[in-house]
Amino acid sequence: MSNSPSGERWSTRVGVILAVTGSAVGLGNFLRFPGQAAQNGGGLFMIPYLVAFLIVGIPLAWSEWALGRHGGNRGYNSAPGIFGGVLRRPKGAYVGMLGTVMPVLIYTYYVVVEALCLYYAWHYLTGTLAGFGDDVSAVGDFFVASMGMTEHGAIFTSGQGQFLGFVGICFFINFFLIYRGLSRGIEKFCAIAMPLLVVCALIVLVRVLTLQPLPETPDQTLWAGLGFMWNPAQQDGSIWDTLANPDVWLAATGQIFFSLSVGFGLILTYASYLRKDDDVALSSLTSVSGNGFCEVVLGGMIALPAAYIFLGPMFLSDPQNIGTFSLGFVTLPNVFNQMPAGSFFGFLFFFLLFLAAVTSSLSMLQPSIALLEEGLGITRKPSVAILGFITFAGTFFIVYFSAGLQALDTVDFWMANFFIFIFATVQTLIFGWVLGPKKGYEELAAGAEICVPRGIMFVIRYISPLFLLTVFALWCRRSLPGRWEAIMNPPAGEPPVVLMALGFIVVVLLFFSFVIAGANQRWYQTDKEPS
Ligand code: ALA
Repeated sequence: MSNSPSGERWSTRVGVILAVTGSAVGLGNFLRFPGQAAQNGGGLFMIPYLVAFLIVGIPLAWSEWALGRHGGNRGYNSAPGIFGGVLRRPKGAYVGMLGTVMPVLIYTYYVVVEALCLYYAWHYLTGTLAGFGDDVSAVGDFFVASMGMTEHGAIFTSGQGQFLGFVGICFFINFFLIYRGLSRGIEKFCAIAMPLLVVCALIVLVRVLTLQPLPETPDQTLWAGLGFMWNPAQQDGSIWDTLANPDVWLAATGQIFFSLSVGFGLILTYASYLRKDDDVALSSLTSVSGNGFCEVVLGGMIALPAAYIFLGPMFLSDPQNIGTFSLGFVTLPNVFNQMPAGSFFGFLFFFLLFLAAVTSSLSMLQPSIALLEEGLGITRKPSVAILGFITFAGTFFIVYFSAGLQALDTVDFWMANFFIFIFATVQTLIFGWVLGPKKGYEELAAGAEICVPRGIMFVIRYISPLFLLTVFALWCRRSLPGRWEAIMNPPAGEPPVVLMALGFIVVVLLFFSFVIAGANQRWYQTDKEPS
C-alpha cells in the first residue's frame, strides 16, 4: 500500500532504473561532455571527472535515492515535504523549496533545446539541413534564425515561426506523459525511449568508427580524432599544469552534477515512489553506470572524433566551435553534411538527442506536480494545468528574449550552476548530519542488493561537503563578479533581460513558498511512520 497522497508507484524495478537513467542521460552526455573534456585537458579531464564522480556523484546519488525513499514512505513526494519531514519542523520544508523550483525553471529552457533537436531531426528528414552541403556559414545562419538570436522577439516577427510549433509539440508530449502519471506516462515512455536512443547512438557510433579520412586531409584520421578527444599529450603545458588548474576541477564537478541529474531534486522525487524495502544502493549504481556509458563511450566517441575528420584540429581548437550549442547545432550538422548518407545519420543523431532530452525534461516536471498535489491538496489534472501555465510563461520569456540567448543563459547560470551547488550541499548535510550516520546508513542499506561500504557515511559527512564548498568558493570567485557587472550595468537602450529573468525566478520562488505554506497546514501534524 502506498503512502503517497496520489497513490502512485513505479510498476517495476527496471522501470524505475530506466526512468532515473533517462533523467540523467540527456544533452549533457552527448554535447556538453565532449566539449568540456576537449577544453579541459582531453584525457586528463577524466582524472578530476572520476574524482568528482566518486566524491560527489555516487554519494549524492545514494543519499538522494535514500532520502527520497525515506520521505516517500512517510507520505511525502516533494523535496519540501521530504526535507520538512527529516528536519521535523514546518519551516524545514522551505529548505527543500529549491528542489522544486530548480527543475521547473531548468525545464523552461531545456524544453526549447529539446524542441531544437526535434526541429533539426525534422529538417534532416525533409532535406533542408543536408541541402546546405559544405556551406559552413549556412548552418550557422540556420541556427541563429531558428533561435531568433539577432534581436529580442525575432522568432515572432521574422517569419521563422515554424520552430515555435516544435516547442509546442514538445510541451504537449511532456505534459501529456506527465498527465498520464508515473507508471503509465513516465515509466512506459522511458522503457521505450531509453533502449531506442541507445540503439540509435550505437548505429551513429559504428558509422563514426568506420569513417575514412578525406583524400585532401589524409592526416585527419579517426585515430587522430580519438586522440584529440582523449590524448593528454595533445594539451599545452604539463600534466601538472592541467591538474592544478581550478577551472578544470570546476568543469568536471559541474559536468558530474548536470549529467547525473543529482542535486536538483529530481531523483529525490522519483525515489519517493519506491516501496519501503526496495533496493536503492544497486539501482542507483546501475543508473549512474548507464549514464556513464552513454556519456563516456557514446558521447565521448561520436561528436568530436567525427568533427575532427571533416573539420580538422584548427577548427576544433577554437572553444567557440565546441561549446554545447555550437558543437551540437552548427559544428555537427556540418559534419553530417559531408558524411556519406549524412541525412540519415543526422536525422538519427538529432532524434536520439530529442529522446534523451524528453526523458530528462519529464523528470523536471514531476517534483512540482508532487508539491502541488501535496501542497494544495488537488489532483493531478489541476496540478498539470497550474504547472503548464507557469512553464508556458517561463518558456515564452526565454523564447522572446532571445537576442544572444540572454534569457536562457541567465536562468541556466543561476539554476544549473549556482543554486545546484547550494541545494546539493544542503542535501548532503541533511543526509549526513540530520538523518545522521546510523540512520543514514540504515536507510541506504535497507533492502540493498549489494553490500554498502560503511565508509560511505564518512565521505557523505565530511569529504563531499568539503569538496563541494571548496569548488563552490572557487567557482563564485571566478564567475560571480562578471554576473554582478551584467546585473548592475544592463546595455543602454535594451530591455533589462537579466533583471527580468531574476524577477521571474523570484516570482516562481514566491509562488512555491505560498504552496508550501498551504502544505504545512496538513504536513507534520502527526509524525507519520513508514507504511
Ligand atoms: N542530466 C540531464 C542532461 O544531461 C539534465 O541533460
